Amino acid sequence: MPEMRRLLVLTLFGLGWTNLTEAQFPRVCCTVEGIVSKECCPALGSDPENRCGVLSGRGNCSDVLIDSRPWGGPYRLRNVDDREKWPTKFFNRTCRCFGNFAGYNCGECKFGWTGSDCEQRKAPVVRKDILSLSADELQEFLSVLDQAKSTVHPEYVIATQHWLGLLGPNGTEPQFSNISIYDLFVWQHYYSVRDTLLGPGRPFKAIDFSHKGPAFITWHRFHLLSLERELQKLTGNENFAVPYWRFATGRQECDVCTDALLGGPHPGDPSRISPGSRFSRWPVVCDSLDEYNRLVTLCNGTSEGTLRRGLTQGRNVTLPSMSDVRSCLNLREFDSPPYFTNSSFSFRNALEGFDRPDGELDSSVSNLHNLVHQFLSGTSAQSHSAANDPIFLVLHSFTDAIFEEWMRRGNGSFPDEMAPIGHNRHYNMVPFFPPVTNQDIYVASEQLGYSYAIDLGDTDSGSAVIVLGCSLGGIFLGLLLLLLYVQRRRKRQFQPLLNAEFTNTKYTEEA
Ligand SMILES: *[C@@H]1O[C@H](CO)[C@@H](O)[C@H](O)[C@H]1NC(C)=O
Ligand SMILES: *[C@@H]1O[C@H](CO)[C@@H](O)[C@H](O)[C@H]1NC(C)=O
Ligand SMILES: *[C@@H]1O[C@H](CO)[C@@H](O)[C@H](O)[C@H]1NC(C)=O
Ligand SMILES: *[C@@H]1O[C@H](CO)[C@@H](O)[C@H](O)[C@H]1NC(C)=O
Ligand SMILES: *[C@@H]1O[C@H](CO)[C@@H](O)[C@H](O)[C@H]1NC(C)=O
Ligand SMILES: *[C@@H]1O[C@H](CO)[C@@H](O)[C@H](O)[C@H]1NC(C)=O
Ligand SMILES: *[C@@H]1O[C@H](CO)[C@@H](O)[C@H](O)[C@H]1NC(C)=O
Ligand SMILES: *[C@@H]1O[C@H](CO)[C@@H](O)[C@H](O)[C@H]1NC(C)=O
Repeated sequence: MPEMRRLLVLTLFGLGWTNLTEAQFPRVCCTVEGIVSKECCPALGSDPENRCGVLSGRGNCSDVLIDSRPWGGPYRLRNVDDREKWPTKFFNRTCRCFGNFAGYNCGECKFGWTGSDCEQRKAPVVRKDILSLSADELQEFLSVLDQAKSTVHPEYVIATQHWLGLLGPNGTEPQFSNISIYDLFVWQHYYSVRDTLLGPGRPFKAIDFSHKGPAFITWHRFHLLSLERELQKLTGNENFAVPYWRFATGRQECDVCTDALLGGPHPGDPSRISPGSRFSRWPVVCDSLDEYNRLVTLCNGTSEGTLRRGLTQGRNVTLPSMSDVRSCLNLREFDSPPYFTNSSFSFRNALEGFDRPDGELDSSVSNLHNLVHQFLSGTSAQSHSAANDPIFLVLHSFTDAIFEEWMRRGNGSFPDEMAPIGHNRHYNMVPFFPPVTNQDIYVASEQLGYSYAIDLGDTDSGSAVIVLGCSLGGIFLGLLLLLLYVQRRRKRQFQPLLNAEFTNTKYTEEA
C-alpha cells in the first residue's frame, strides 16, 4: 500500500493541484471494446485492478444516474438524439468517485479541493477585471490562450460521428479525433447547441442543452471552470484565473477590442481582427453547422477560416448598462415556468437576455448576455461557433459574476422538472464527462474554488431607490412597448445569438 500511495501522490503531483478535467470522452475509453461495453472505468495508475482508484478508496465503477423527471420545451421527440439521457447512449457505467475525489478515473479532486487526499480547501482563485490586470498577468492570459489553441488535449478526444456511426461503417474503427485544449472548449459549446440529426438535410432545430433554459447559468459556469483548470495546468500557476470583461458600459465601443487585449478591428476589413493581434491568426472550428446537418455528421475539429467580429455592423447597438445589471439582480426567482425564452420575471431569462433586464417579457429585444453577443456580431453572434472568439471567456466570466452576486443576495430554486431537455436540476449537462448535473454546479463559486474581485452591489444609498424607480418606470415602458410591438412587425437587425426556431414537422417515424 505505501507503494500505491506514493504512486498516487506522484500521479497527483504530475497532474498538479488541479481538479477534475471534464470534457468529451477520455481517449482511453474510446476503443471498440469501450464503446461496445459502454463502460468507461479506467484504472488509476499502472495496476489494472485499480479501476477508478477503488483499491485506495477513491471510487468505484457504477451505473450512470440519469434524470427521470419529465421535461418540457419544444423538443418532444424520443430516442432520436444521442444527447438524451446523457451520456448513456455512449457510456452507461463510469467511475463514481467518493468524497472529494473526481475525474474520469477518480485521479483528481473536485473543484475547490486540493491535497493528495483532496481534503484541503483550495484558496479561491480571483477573477479580475481584464482592464485591471498587470502587464505580466495580461501576458500570461494571452499567451496561455495561444498555448491552449495549439496543444492537443492530453486526455480527451471528440466524437466525430453521431452515436449510430460511432464505430465507423465497419464497426471496427472508432470515430474520434484529437483536438486542442481550446478547440475542445469550442466543440463542447457547439455540441450542446447543435441540431438533432434526423437524416440528410433534416435537422430538428428546437433543441439547445446550454441556452434558453435554467442550465444556461450552470452550463456556462462549468464550461469556463473546466477551461480555467486546463489553463492553470498549462501555465503551471495554480492561482491563474480567467479575467472578466465588465461589458455593462452602456457604450457603443468595445473597450477590450484593442490589439493589446483581445484584438482591434482590421483596418482594411472591419469584419476581421487586426493583424496586430495574435487572434487574427486563430482558425475557427465547428462553424459549418448547415454542412454537418446536410452530411449528417458532427464537427470534426478541422479549421474553417478565421475569426470574424463585425463590430461596425453593430455600430448602432449599445452595450448593456450597469442599471440593466442592477435591474436583473432585483429579480428573486431564479427561473419561472415554462423555463424557456418566454419566461418572465426570471433572473436567468433576464440575464441570458430574452427579457427586459427587469424581467418584463419583450421578445422583440435582446439584452445583457444576448445583446453582447449581437453587439460583437460575426463569429460571436452564432451560438454554435461563438466560443471560437476568446472574448467569449471574458464575456461569460462577467455573466457568471452577475449570477454569483445574485446568489449571494438570496436564493431561488433550480427547477426539478418540466424545463426543456437538459435543463432539469438533475440532468447531466451535455456533453461533459464524467457526468455532472446542473445541481452540482448551482453552488457558491467559493465552493468551486474561485471568486470575483468585483462589487456589483449598490454603490450609494440612493441607488436602491433609483433602481426601484427604474423598475417601476420599466414596467410602464414595457407595457407601452408591448402595445407598440403588437402593432408592428417584429424586426431584427442582427442575427440573434439564439434564434428560437420552432417547427411542427413530425419526425416520429424515426423514433
Ligand atoms: C449498459 O449497456 C450495455 C451494453 O449495451 C448493456 O448490456 C447494459 O444492459 C446496459 N446497462 C444498463 C444499466 O443500462
Ligand atoms: C460502489 O460504492 C458504493 C458506495 O460505497 C456502493 O454502494 C456500491 O455498491 C459500489 N458499487 C460497486 C459495483 O462496487
Ligand atoms: C474493415 O476492417 C478491417 C479490419 O479492421 C480493415 O482491414 C478494413 O480496411 C476495413 N474496411 C473498411 C471499408 O473500412
Ligand atoms: C492523439 O494524441 C495522442 C496524445 O498526444 C497521440 O498518442 C495519438 O497518436 C494522437 N492520435 C492521432 C490520431 O493523431
Ligand atoms: C472534417 O470536416 C470537414 C468539414 O465538415 C470535412 O470537409 C472533412 O472532410 C472532415 N475530415 C475528416 C477526416 O472527416
Ligand atoms: C442608427 O440609429 C439611428 C437612431 O436610432 C437611426 O436613425 C439610424 O437609421 C440607425 N442606423 C442604422 C445603420 O441602423
Ligand atoms: C412559451 O413558448 C412556447 C413555444 O413557443 C409556447 O408553447 C408556450 O405556450 C409559451 N408559454 C408562455 C407562457 O408564453
Ligand atoms: C432559500 O430557499 C429555501 C428553500 O427554497 C427557503 O426555505 C429559504 O427561505 C430561502 N432563503 C432565502 C434567504 O430566500
